[in-house]
Amino acid sequence: MAQGSHGGLLLLVMLILAFNISCSLASLKIGNKIKSATFLSPEFVLKPGSVENRFYHNIDFPRGHIGLKSFNAEVIDEAGNPIPLHETYLHHWLVEKYYKRQDMAENNDKQKFQEPDLIFARNSGICQDNVLGQYFGLGSETRKTDTHIPDPYAVEIGNPARIPAGYEEKWMLNVHAIDTRGAVDRLGCTECRCDLYNITVDEYGEPLRPDYRGGISCCYDQTHCKVRKGYGGARRSLYLRYTVEWVDWDFGIIPVKIILLDVTDTGKRLNVSTPLSPENGCQVEYDIESCSREEAASNGCIDVRRTSLTMPISGNVIYGVAHQHTGGTGSTLFGEDGSVICTSEPIYGKGKDAGDEAGYIVGMSTCYPEPGSIQITAGEKLVLESNYSSTQKHTGVMGLFYILVADRTPNPTNFLYYPIHMHKNMKVSTPAIAIVAVFGLAIIAIAVGLVSRPKKEREEGYEPIMA
Ligand SMILES: *[C@@H]1O[C@H](CO)[C@@H](O)[C@H](O)[C@H]1NC(C)=O
Ligand SMILES: *[C@@H]1O[C@H](CO)[C@@H](O)[C@H](O)[C@H]1NC(C)=O
Ligand SMILES: *[C@@H]1O[C@H](CO)[C@@H](O)[C@H](O)[C@H]1NC(C)=O
Repeated sequence: MAQGSHGGLLLLVMLILAFNISCSLASLKIGNKIKSATFLSPEFVLKPGSVENRFYHNIDFPRGHIGLKSFNAEVIDEAGNPIPLHETYLHHWLVEKYYKRQDMAENNDKQKFQEPDLIFARNSGICQDNVLGQYFGLGSETRKTDTHIPDPYAVEIGNPARIPAGYEEKWMLNVHAIDTRGAVDRLGCTECRCDLYNITVDEYGEPLRPDYRGGISCCYDQTHCKVRKGYGGARRSLYLRYTVEWVDWDFGIIPVKIILLDVTDTGKRLNVSTPLSPENGCQVEYDIESCSREEAASNGCIDVRRTSLTMPISGNVIYGVAHQHTGGTGSTLFGEDGSVICTSEPIYGKGKDAGDEAGYIVGMSTCYPEPGSIQITAGEKLVLESNYSSTQKHTGVMGLFYILVADRTPNPTNFLYYPIHMHKNMKVSTPAIAIVAVFGLAIIAIAVGLVSRPKKEREEGYEPIMA
């Protein structure tokens, strides 16, 4: 939140309270206490070279009509010790929302995800079908990436009015982990290079495209990456430990939508039977070719990918973060006018300990724009740029970008229409609202002078590439 606006808003709060109308809507801080809970995923067992890519249905998750404030996770062993990435590489974890038919038996992680028994409830992102529909999801960067959502914003879940009749809201966790202890080629294993996994057919037995060299289709559940001969690491039980923070929902909270963008999005939305197919929308992964000597001289071997993406909604960006793999050097999201919405850069580890593993991306920098300073509009064509070092080739890298978008700002004028239009059950009587309305205008006139500040211009970036 803008530091400068605290004083003016505080004054506004005090003035309204002076009229003896006690309601939390005047406060920009969420009055409700932040709650926190830590859960463990089901156990998964890894031995050197092995891969687990599991989908756990009906995971432990906070229930009720609440606002999510953060989600953090890490891989630990049975004793609770954090496991470093050079032992267990956390390719990704994803948390997805779905609705389960109430009269259906409880499910397990072997269950097929089939409508109408289960309805996937994707985020507000724009990829085809259910692709990249998660609410939260990170990979190796999870330990040092800030996920908190500032007040007065939160991700609204469990709103009974939005859950289809006869269904209940549930959460699914996908954990994809690769044990690289003793690996012949650690980076190659984390990049799911098909030769190291000796894979020629995908998970469903279909032959891989001849030009497919690496990615998730070569490191699916129960595959093995090549380990040094004679290497004898023990099997071990691991867990994803995740901590969720939330607040009870109330009308003072401004809901944010999760929009997930992918630099490989072709923009095409084809009518095909499998959501992930060549040319169709988000490809999720891509490869980086190693640079030529000429490129090394001219651009220092940076692979730059760009795509143009049409926004589905309007609103204010309140958070942004990219997801990249090893080799990533940063990613920027630009507005249609070429201005910078957010740049997110990787933090590489420097040592051996969990959270600081050399050669791995252990965190991504985040953006928290001042509320109202960065707006997007429905139909606007943003440009996503993802950079990787191409001093060596990479397979199966990603260029994702999460933004959280709120449809309004915590603007003092909200206090006028909020209680009347949105919350009929509020305990403020009509005369009281009239008082707020009449005196409120005067107060707001004062407060606006104190609070408002010139809108920060978006930083100038590059020339938009799209016509
Ligand atoms: C690789 O897979 C083929 C069959 O797909 C198998 O015959 C061969 O033994 C495997 N090689 C290794 C080194 O595991
Ligand atoms: C998409 O394909 C299905 C069959 O695969 C067909 O029934 C449907 O009409 C198609 N939709 C469009 C918009 O072409
Ligand atoms: C990406 O690469 C381009 C071209 O070299 C450069 O102008 C831009 O600043 C880079 N962006 C990031 C976030 O590193």
